[in-house]
Amino acid sequence: MSPNNIHTTFDRIMNREDKERLLNQHSVVIWFTGLSGSGKTTVAQHLEQKLYEKGFLTQILDGDNIRSGINNNLSFTEADRLENIRRIAEVSKLLINSGVITLNSFISPTEEIREMAKSIIGEENFIEVFMNTPIEVCEQRDVKGLYAKARRGEIKNFTGIDSPFDAPAKPDVELHTHKDSLETSVEACLKVVLPKITREKS
Ligand code: ADX
Repeated sequence: MSPNNIHTTFDRIMNREDKERLLNQHSVVIWFTGLSGSGKTTVAQHLEQKLYEKGFLTQILDGDNIRSGINNNLSFTEADRLENIRRIAEVSKLLINSGVITLNSFISPTEEIREMAKSIIGEENFIEVFMNTPIEVCEQRDVKGLYAKARRGEIKNFTGIDSPFDAPAKPDVELHTHKDSLETSVEACLKVVLPKITREKS
């Protein structure tokens, strides 16, 4: 009989390693940072497709989707952007603890915000991809018409216009979608990501 009738089950609880083994992968967070229109989600979607074809289980988290659901009470003030990313980082941690590779597409505009995400998720689990697309190009693309609205003053605190974006100092991958093809960008991600998610044959 154990003391106080406590019967621990630590040895029987399935942990991250068990789940990674089941999925035959190592889980990481691939974090895309960059201006609106810099190509984050496009590259994430194509990278996900490639990883799927290679047999990896992934989940994309994306600014517009998350902000219409779990984070629909948040604005674009500095404090709300921080809270946006804090929640996303916590959700990402749950996903990687289930063995799932997570592709995150968020402007995440400041070093402070990205450092917070990194510290919640764990540096060893975090691959930072910087979409280094010049604002002129993003503004010219203006896929959602938001730069035009921001210039007309119809949207306040718009990143790159009247809200800052600090380039990351040491990203793991830096992409130039205005010069390189989508395929080149996806390949550059795969080169860094594949060695981290591939399991040794046992
Ligand atoms: S973050 O700064 O908090 O990381 P997030 O990636 O979630 O931003 O959301 C960015 C998306 O919200 C943009 O792609 C754009 O579609 C939309 N958006 C609406 N208002 C703003 C704004 N003021 N600044 C930046 N993006 C905005």
